[in-house]
Amino acid sequence: MTQLDQNAWIEDVWKRTAAKITRNAFEIGAKFPHASLNGAYNSCPAHDWGAGFWPGLLWLAYRETGNELLRSTAEALEAKLSETLISYYELHHDVGFMFSLSSVAQYKLTENQDAKRHGMMAANLLAGRFNVNGDFIRAWPDWNGEDHSGWAIIDCMMNLPLLYWASKELGDPRYKHIAMRHADMVLKQFLRPDGSVYHIVCFDPETGARTGALAGQGYAAESAWARGQAWALYGLALSYGYTGEEQYLQAAKRVAHYFVSRLPEDNVPYWDFLLPDVAGMPRDSSSAAIAASGLLEIASHCSGADADFYRKAGAAIVRSLDEKYGAWSSQEEQGLLLHATGFFERNAYIDVPIIYGDYFFTEAVLKLKGRTEFFW
Ligand code: GLY
Repeated sequence: MTQLDQNAWIEDVWKRTAAKITRNAFEIGAKFPHASLNGAYNSCPAHDWGAGFWPGLLWLAYRETGNELLRSTAEALEAKLSETLISYYELHHDVGFMFSLSSVAQYKLTENQDAKRHGMMAANLLAGRFNVNGDFIRAWPDWNGEDHSGWAIIDCMMNLPLLYWASKELGDPRYKHIAMRHADMVLKQFLRPDGSVYHIVCFDPETGARTGALAGQGYAAESAWARGQAWALYGLALSYGYTGEEQYLQAAKRVAHYFVSRLPEDNVPYWDFLLPDVAGMPRDSSSAAIAASGLLEIASHCSGADADFYRKAGAAIVRSLDEKYGAWSSQEEQGLLLHATGFFERNAYIDVPIIYGDYFFTEAVLKLKGRTEFFW
């Protein structure tokens, strides 16, 4: 494809994406959509880890279009999300996903001081989950009688930007120090020699000693859950962007090579890279979208042939998502991307559009359109 064709294609994808987000703003309004079942998004509670993606989508589209409905809907969602800050027990390590894409986004685009304060409060909650003996940010509350006080998960790499942002805004490195201690731990405890990563690593919460690893949302403890690889790839690149620590960029590239070199022909992975048999197994288009945006992030920190490699890899995934996974033909479908997999082993949201797939697809499209500033 020539550069001219590439530009025309990306403008066209953006037009279709913006049109659907705008239509959804009318149809969904100030709710927290999660997965699209039979064409319409269901809702999750405001404290759900995925509650930030719809406001994030609205802010992305508002910045491009100036449509006031998108802004007022995103503002209403930010107000609802901020109410969860005092519920405390319901909150978890994923306040980074939630508040970076709502409160921080709003502050970055409108300088709203309440939104800024909510972002700061979320950063405090996240910092408060840091285990100083194990150098990890604790995942999740306990549930079903299961003690999670020693659990860390790879997804948390995407929560670290909230800490870096808070440090930058305050001119105080405390939050950044915590984020870097967690990221350094990930390099030692999550990253495998082949560039893949674990989903859950467990520690003794008293001594900080590593006690094992769990499958989590993956097929097995030693497998490579597709979305987990994407969280690592993108999160490490973001840590590099904030800190300039070369080892984070090198690690992001290692995960990227694992991801890209094992993709099936259409560039969209099955839900785990190490399934014993892929026959009849669903893809996870959301992991492809996250990785695409992450690859473009890596490209933004490289030059020459290196930048070209990551940019082309990201663009190829976006192209396939658009052509083979995009829900463009039907007015009956609210989702942008078909065929995402939430949690296969729990039979939760398999082969459906999921809001984070839509979010990262949109982010990647805007990166290909030349945008360089985002909300992380
Ligand atoms: N953070 C949970 C997930 O990726 O499904």
